[in-house]
Amino acid sequence: MNGLVRVTATRALREICEPWRAGRQRIALVPTMGNLHAGHISLCRQAREIADRVIVTIFVNPTQFSPGEDFESYPRTPDDDLAALESAQCADVVFAPEVSEIYPHGAHNAVRLALPPMSSELCGASRPGHFDGVAGVVLRLCHIAQPDVLVLGQKDFQQLALIRWLVTDLSLDVEVHGAPIVRDAEGLALSSRNRYLDAAEMRRAPELHRALSAVASAIRAGSHDFEALEASAASSLESQGFRVDYVEIRNADTLRRPVSDDNGAGLIVLGAARLGKARLIDNVSV
Ligand code: PAF
Repeated sequence: MNGLVRVTATRALREICEPWRAGRQRIALVPTMGNLHAGHISLCRQAREIADRVIVTIFVNPTQFSPGEDFESYPRTPDDDLAALESAQCADVVFAPEVSEIYPHGAHNAVRLALPPMSSELCGASRPGHFDGVAGVVLRLCHIAQPDVLVLGQKDFQQLALIRWLVTDLSLDVEVHGAPIVRDAEGLALSSRNRYLDAAEMRRAPELHRALSAVASAIRAGSHDFEALEASAASSLESQGFRVDYVEIRNADTLRRPVSDDNGAGLIVLGAARLGKARLIDNVSV
């Protein structure tokens, strides 16, 4: 098969994958909600390196949006997405299903997963049910495409941790590959929601990364008063016009809070803050 193919039906995707699987080709799945930017393309390029075939899914998943969030206005740019993938030559198939294809009984009547309590912390605290929706759609996409490897970005660090949890918990036969964050020249993590920022906010937005990096540097330099570091980063961001959801230092493997005599190894600084209409998230490893 030459060139990029776009399908919307589960059956069509399965027919494409069948000979790949029969030929023992390794299949990577890159789930996205579209509005692709350089961060997504980097995920696809990594997928290309570790697999023979790459499936990119484009699906704005209704079950991961809370009431009042941006599901309706989430940027949908299917033609640009296809053009970006064509020109990067990093995918074989785009699976862009309708909601009814993923949720045949309707999104409100879908079987729901309930993730462990970690899903209600950090981003889950301000977005109740968000990760249950993410887990539900990723599980469905894996079930449909049966990939060997799932490629997800490290920017959504909690999402990545919860998907690893899901895969282990349900004994899914898929490897999870976390790909590094792609940033702009100022350090702002690329995100489809950055387009909600106006010009002045765009100039201020990299402060989130700077604040998290400063906390990571302080820990590396021997500072272990984690609560004070979190509070000081949050108040510095608030003073610059951010509305901070959280700045938290966690263990990168378990996402648990570190104990105060933790020596800093294996920690991660996570943050989420609203700026204008955008909610930005980022993280920095210590
Ligand atoms: O990270 C995202 O874009 C979404 O949460 C995902 C993984 C595509 C599920 O809808």
